[in-house]
Amino acid sequence: MARTRSTKKLSQRIDREYFKRLYPIGRWRRILSLAVTGIGVAWVFGSLAVNSGAVFNAGPLSKGHHILEGNCATCHTGTSLWGRKAEERACVTCHDGPAHQEQQVFTPPCLSCHIEHKGSAVEITDASCTECHGGLQTKSGKLNVAAKVTGFDSNHPEFKARADAGTIKFGHQVHMKADLRGVDGPVQLKCLTCHAPDRTGQMSTANFERNCESCHRLEFHRKIDKLLPHDKPEVVLALARQALAEYIGAHPGDVNLVEPALDPRIMVQRSGPAGNAAEWIRRGMEDTETLMWRKTCVECHTPSAAREIAKAQIASRWFEGARFSHLPHQLVICAECHSTAAQSKATADVMLPGIQTCQQCHRTANPSASANCTECHVYHDWSKAKPIDAMRKIDELLNR
Ligand code: HEC
Ligand code: HEC
Ligand code: HEC
Ligand code: HEC
Ligand code: HEC
Ligand code: HEC
Ligand code: HEC
Ligand code: HEC
Ligand code: HEC
Ligand code: HEC
Repeated sequence: MARTRSTKKLSQRIDREYFKRLYPIGRWRRILSLAVTGIGVAWVFGSLAVNSGAVFNAGPLSKGHHILEGNCATCHTGTSLWGRKAEERACVTCHDGPAHQEQQVFTPPCLSCHIEHKGSAVEITDASCTECHGGLQTKSGKLNVAAKVTGFDSNHPEFKARADAGTIKFGHQVHMKADLRGVDGPVQLKCLTCHAPDRTGQMSTANFERNCESCHRLEFHRKIDKLLPHDKPEVVLALARQALAEYIGAHPGDVNLVEPALDPRIMVQRSGPAGNAAEWIRRGMEDTETLMWRKTCVECHTPSAAREIAKAQIASRWFEGARFSHLPHQLVICAECHSTAAQSKATADVMLPGIQTCQQCHRTANPSASANCTECHVYHDWSKAKPIDAMRKIDELLNR
């Protein structure tokens, strides 16, 4: 039998134009890929033309930088082939980011800590700090602080509060007694009677007029119901003299009276009347000084030999290397942190909490409050910040 299907015939059955023609699937694939690319390119250039820049946006800028949303180039100053990188030199045209410590061996770039395009929710992570504090080095080679601090609830050193250099004599224990002698009978003082937090969370320190005078009255004369002012001794004495002169001017007959001493334990009981106004005033001043230097002022102050009152030096900050605010801690009873306050008998007692008190809430596992380094520490030494003039026109900022 002769073969009827020759190779030629067979080849004629194959459509040699198959790959040149567009069939529905292939055609659409081509049309779609060209169209989508085209739309993309148009979008990019279109956006560039209207300068919104939104196409490239990696996310919302942080709150303080929101105004720069239409001015991408203020930060993206880089000029590489692959695009304009944000650069540190842009940051420092608008702010100073003063260095952390004189002794630091290198200065990390702004962008290693300050992340952008994540809105305002970004926290600076501990890694930004432990980069150095994991094995601390200093220019001088000497260390004033712990060499390794990598976590608040792992190897963070115990706090070192400053010493109490206050010169006002004061015992918390006496004043926290349940039956303290008050103006109208026994009282129970509260911590908040003398200390209250301000808007920054710092507690007020005690003040004489506000917190002491109601019980510790600066009386100086039986007949004069005015109290001495609380001031420098020379001012106090001048005002006492004035009050005495005014009184005797208004009551000249009193020069002939013999008054019982205001406090017989410390004052001489005069045997006869003063006789004239000048002597009456002299005696009044003598008594005033006796009261001041043996009873009133000396209850709380230790005057110098020259009868000068030392600076009070009631500290308002105790941890110089960290920040603290009482405001987020207002739900906690004072004694949970100042546990020794109610037993303290002397000013020199320091009644500040140790680290364990804080670690109960500020901890990494199952935290009730953040244990992030930046919760309690600042990085920049703002006292060294230099002013920077970065002022622009509103039109320029809004890119109009
Ligand atoms: C306040 C400064 C600032 C402004 C203003 C700013 N950026 Fe950024 N941008 C940064 C920083 C910082 C980075 C991260 C560092 C980097 O990679 O350049 C970044 C990264 C990016 C990235 C990621 C690309 C990359 O290189 O990793 C894009 C995309 C981007 N920015 C787009 C924009 C656009 C679009 C605008 C304007 C709407 C804008 N940025 C405005 C600071 C800024
Ligand atoms: C054109 C000026 C300008 C540039 C450039 C700029 N900033 Fe700012 N930045 C500001 C202003 C204004 C604020 C808001 C200040 C305020 O609220 O106290 C701000 C706020 C901040 C804040 C406070 C956090 C916040 O968002 O509220 C940080 C941190 C900061 N900038 C870091 C940087 C870094 C890092 C760069 C460089 C990538 C940079 N800035 C570039 C002007 C600028
Ligand atoms: C090692 C991390 C780190 C580096 C590097 C760093 N910062 Fe900061 N920055 C912080 C921390 C933490 C804060 C918040 C506490 C503080 O004020 O120190 C801050 C705060 C700021 C603020 C003030 C924000 C506010 O709330 O007002 C500005 C502005 C700022 N940095 C700018 C810069 C600039 C500019 C650079 C680079 C020259 C820089 N920072 C480098 C960690 C860093
Ligand atoms: C570039 C290295 C470096 C980085 C990054 C760094 N530190 Fe420091 N830090 C130092 C040096 C150096 C000292 C001074 C040590 C000394 O004097 O013994 C120091 C001291 C300190 C102190 C104690 C001194 C004080 O009273 O201020 C604290 C607290 C501190 N750093 C916190 C931080 C925190 C929080 C961060 C992260 C936001 C951070 N540091 C990032 C190098 C660094
Ligand atoms: C009658 C007023 C008065 C009352 C009430 C009072 N304080 Fe004070 N407090 C003072 C005076 C005055 C000082 C400064 C002298 C000193 O350092 O002891 C002071 C200082 C402090 C200090 C910082 C000084 C240190 O050595 O730690 C703490 C903390 C403190 N008080 C906590 C308390 C607590 C907690 C209570 C309640 C249990 C309380 N105070 C009740 C008057 C008062
Ligand atoms: C509610 C009345 C009251 C107030 C307010 C008060 N004290 Fe007193 N204080 C007393 C009484 C009562 C005594 C004597 C207690 C005793 O000996 O049992 C006393 C004793 C003292 C003593 C001697 C005993 C000791 O603690 O060493 C000093 C010092 C003193 N107070 C200082 C102050 C100062 C400073 C303030 C204001 C910050 C103040 N007091 C506020 C009632 C008060
Ligand atoms: C009950 C205790 C108390 C008595 C009594 C008292 N002071 Fe004071 N004094 C204080 C306290 C507390 C302060 C610090 C807070 C303030 O200024 O109110 C202070 C501060 C002062 C200061 C300012 C010291 C500084 O820091 O520069 C002078 C001056 C002073 N007293 C003088 C006197 C004189 C003079 C008397 C007697 C007439 C007197 N005080 C009686 C408690 C007392
Ligand atoms: C969560 C712990 C905590 C609680 C609760 C707390 N304190 Fe403090 N307190 C501190 C720390 C920490 C400091 C030291 C802050 C600094 O100056 O560095 C301090 C400081 C103080 C000071 C010195 C002034 C100052 O602000 O630095 C006074 C006064 C004081 N506390 C009184 C109180 C009183 C009163 C209460 C209750 C109403 C209270 N504290 C509750 C932790 C606490
Ligand atoms: C009862 C739990 C609790 C204890 C104990 C506690 N804290 Fe806090 N702390 C908080 C909470 C809640 C906040 C606010 C939420 C947050 O920042 O995570 C806070 C916030 C803070 C802040 C930030 C303040 C601010 O205004 O940004 C500092 C700093 C701080 N705590 C330090 C301390 C120190 C130091 C101690 C120990 C003396 C301490 N805390 C003990 C619960 C606690
Ligand atoms: C809950 C608050 C809190 C947190 C979180 C915290 N610290 Fe501290 N830190 C303090 C206090 C308070 C001190 C004591 C400051 C003083 O004594 O003046 C301190 C002291 C220090 C010191 C000085 C220690 C010394 O040897 O004198 C360094 C360094 C330090 N912290 C680094 C860090 C680092 C790094 C982190 C994060 C891993 C961190 N801290 C987290 C509150 C905190």
